[in-house]
Amino acid sequence: MPSKVSCLYVLTVVCWASALWYLSVSRPSSSYVGQASVPQRQVAKSKNVTFNNIRTRPLNPHSFDFLINEPKKCETNVPFLVILISTTHKEFDARQAIRETWGDENNFNGIRIVTLFLLGKNTDSVLNQMVEQESQIFHDIVVEDFIDSYHNLTLKTLMGMRWVATFCSKAKYVMKTDSDIFVNMDNLVYKLLKPTTKPRRRYFTGYVINGGPIRDVRSKWYMPRDLYPDSKYPPFCSGTGYVFSADVAELIYKTSLHTRLLHLEDVYVGLCLRKLGIHPFQNSGFNHWKMAYSLCRYRRVITVHQISPEEMHRIWNDMSSKKHLRC
Ligand SMILES: *[C@@H]1O[C@H](CO)[C@@H](O)[C@H](O)[C@H]1NC(C)=O
Ligand SMILES: *[C@@H]1O[C@H](CO)[C@@H](O)[C@H](O)[C@H]1NC(C)=O
Repeated sequence: MPSKVSCLYVLTVVCWASALWYLSVSRPSSSYVGQASVPQRQVAKSKNVTFNNIRTRPLNPHSFDFLINEPKKCETNVPFLVILISTTHKEFDARQAIRETWGDENNFNGIRIVTLFLLGKNTDSVLNQMVEQESQIFHDIVVEDFIDSYHNLTLKTLMGMRWVATFCSKAKYVMKTDSDIFVNMDNLVYKLLKPTTKPRRRYFTGYVINGGPIRDVRSKWYMPRDLYPDSKYPPFCSGTGYVFSADVAELIYKTSLHTRLLHLEDVYVGLCLRKLGIHPFQNSGFNHWKMAYSLCRYRRVITVHQISPEEMHRIWNDMSSKKHLRC
């Protein structure tokens, strides 16, 4: 009975094919714990999955879409500095305080600064709509469609790197900071980055931390052993504020595609820098703790942490009105 034989043959082939397919799909995903967020659709769609191309497929594909974008911000006028500010939906006041103080893009005659707030997608649609309206007024918000949460902060930073690499690759420098940070822009622009000098490449600076994972589950910075078994992190810059030459944005973004995701964004960026062979420079102007205000003290810093929107205005007004005073 030839038809029976061919039936059996077809069945065997189908079985083998599905076993191979199953192995190839299940292997890589079981190796990244805690990453249920990685979309599987590329695998499912591809008719041509082999063991070979699994190894080269991104471990961390960052396949999110922009929900709000400002793709033309850099088109006509290339910025000297892009400031990426990690923020959450409810921080309307903090964003407004930054726009009205140190983040005011119009304060630097001749030197173009672009300020962008980074957000994910909120689970509350009302907040999403409010941010959408805010974006239509100010055009300084970028949103990708990952869920906005503390554990997804790394995705927010990578979105910023991706944005610079895609829409603003000719910028000279980039700063990544948070919405509760005061930035002394004069020191950052004129003393550190110096627009009149040749732009650096593969440059990265901030408050460098040499530390290791915290294994105490109660800590905000808890790192499970199975996610990161080593006892030391590579040197990394505190996420409260770090500055780099714009070429590094693309390097980090591309490296991240092949680097297993970790929720501590500054540690994660440090891991990418180590892979790239880029060493972060220590700069004592970046303060990642709170510091009581005094005019002379704040004149020496680049960043100060834990500043409320009210304090931001107060500090800004005081410093602006006392420009003529000497310390
Ligand atoms: C299979 O993958 C190879 C290499 O990625 C590609 O060149 C080829 O066109 C693919 N074949 C099919 C049928 O998709
Ligand atoms: C991070 O974002 C992804 C993609 O939207 C989502 O699936 C995941 O649940 C988020 N993780 C957390 C901890 O919120």
